[in-house]
Amino acid sequence: MLLPLLPCLLGAASGDDGFRTAVTSREAFAQPASSLSETDRPVFFHGRNLFRQVWIVAPADDDTVDGLGPVYNRLSCIACHGKNGRGFAPAGPQEELRAMLVRLSVPGVGADGGPLPHPVYGDQLNELAIPGVTAEGRAVVHYDDHIVELAGGERVVMRRPVLSFRGLQFGPLGGDIETSARIGPAVYGLGLLEAVPDDVLEARARSHGGRVNRVWDVARGASAVGRFGVKANQPTLRQQIAAAFHGDLGITSTLFPAENCTAAQVACRQAESGGAPELTDDQLDAVELYLQLLAVPDRRDIAQPDVRRGEALFASFGCANCHVPELPIADHPRRPEIRTGSIRPYTDLLLHDLGDDLADGRPDFLASGREWRTAPLWGIGLAEQVGDRVGYLHDGRARTVQEAILWHGGEAEPARERYRRADPHERRALLRFLESL
Ligand code: HEC
Ligand code: HEC
Repeated sequence: MLLPLLPCLLGAASGDDGFRTAVTSREAFAQPASSLSETDRPVFFHGRNLFRQVWIVAPADDDTVDGLGPVYNRLSCIACHGKNGRGFAPAGPQEELRAMLVRLSVPGVGADGGPLPHPVYGDQLNELAIPGVTAEGRAVVHYDDHIVELAGGERVVMRRPVLSFRGLQFGPLGGDIETSARIGPAVYGLGLLEAVPDDVLEARARSHGGRVNRVWDVARGASAVGRFGVKANQPTLRQQIAAAFHGDLGITSTLFPAENCTAAQVACRQAESGGAPELTDDQLDAVELYLQLLAVPDRRDIAQPDVRRGEALFASFGCANCHVPELPIADHPRRPEIRTGSIRPYTDLLLHDLGDDLADGRPDFLASGREWRTAPLWGIGLAEQVGDRVGYLHDGRARTVQEAILWHGGEAEPARERYRRADPHERRALLRFLESL
């Protein structure tokens, strides 16, 4: 009796059914959706290998994974997205950036409507280079500490990052420079976020506030709704991935065919290429499918009284206005595993002004220097279990979830103050709820 039922049960999968994993180990963020089809399975594992691949200098015996640089930040994707989780900020000026990068620009608008790249250093500081080519320089993070006091007397040390540069190889950056330090975010559940229809985001922005970023879709040569990246500055996962290969590893693709060297960087422009492009479309397809079909951790301890109390406080403090618990998704046009239904990402994918303290002063398409995309909170409770070191917020300044909450300002200031003034039991319950995500 059971067997004939199975196919129709599977057929009923929708939303994030089939995208939830009960794994809570260090591999929690590296699980395929259980709905992964037999046809897609080998592609998924190929994509996984490429995401973990250490790319090498061209020419190399294995020409499928060469073309690193000429200038780059890290040798692999996983270096900044450890175990598919979040990165972290350096502990202080003595430590290098290991899971973080610094975007650069000068005031103005670039040809695509985005930031105007620095004329000499481009749109990202590339701290490393292949032999024979000069790396651009190093970013250094200092911290200024201050203390925030919570109701009941608890005192929290907050560290504000201050960025500087050393060893700049092409001269000073100049006075009129925009910088933005960012840690790598976690990369699971992204196929589901891609399936939230544009009109849902637009309607949400109209009814509840927040703004849709409108960015440049390179493949279509058209403006599009932005949803990936910390300022929602990438329209599709595919473009986000190709941009990461290009900007972070120095690997070209059909979407970004030119090496990331500026006119002033002569040795960079003359270096040997690993192919035109270095990343084949099949490889890009595989990494895209891999990141589209990574499952999201299941919630834990949901019946515990403090977790339930924390969930109610999350709503009554106003956190859920931006960290929206549930969003609808539509059938994904290319991934049969992703079907109409709903997901629980705890984000509205919209831009919000979080105030001066978190501002980077670097506009990105429609996002102002004070706006950030609401960070999805699903899986956040496992972050410290998966990563040896993790940071919170776009630049990893927060060492704990509580520090992250206390940095909220601007539109989120009322919610932050409700948290800060709540009694310690309530704060504890809210944090327990976040741990259950
Ligand atoms: C040097 C560190 C670094 C490396 C290496 C790196 N990333 Fe990232 N990644 C980041 C940062 C920082 C962001 C946020 C970027 C932004 O918003 O400007 C990001 C964002 C992303 C996102 C979007 C996540 C989201 O929630 O919107 C994806 C997907 C991604 N990276 C994939 C990759 C892939 C694929 C590679 C390898 C080709 C890679 N990354 C290599 C640091 C890195
Ligand atoms: C006005 C919208 C808004 C409200 C209200 C809000 N947040 Fe946020 N939250 C954001 C945005 C935007 C970010 C990303 C900021 C950044 O990256 O610097 C964020 C980031 C976070 C992070 C860090 C996530 C990460 O991946 O590093 C946590 C934790 C968080 N919020 C929890 C809360 C809690 C708890 C509340 C209620 C007390 C709350 N937020 C209220 C918009 C909001």
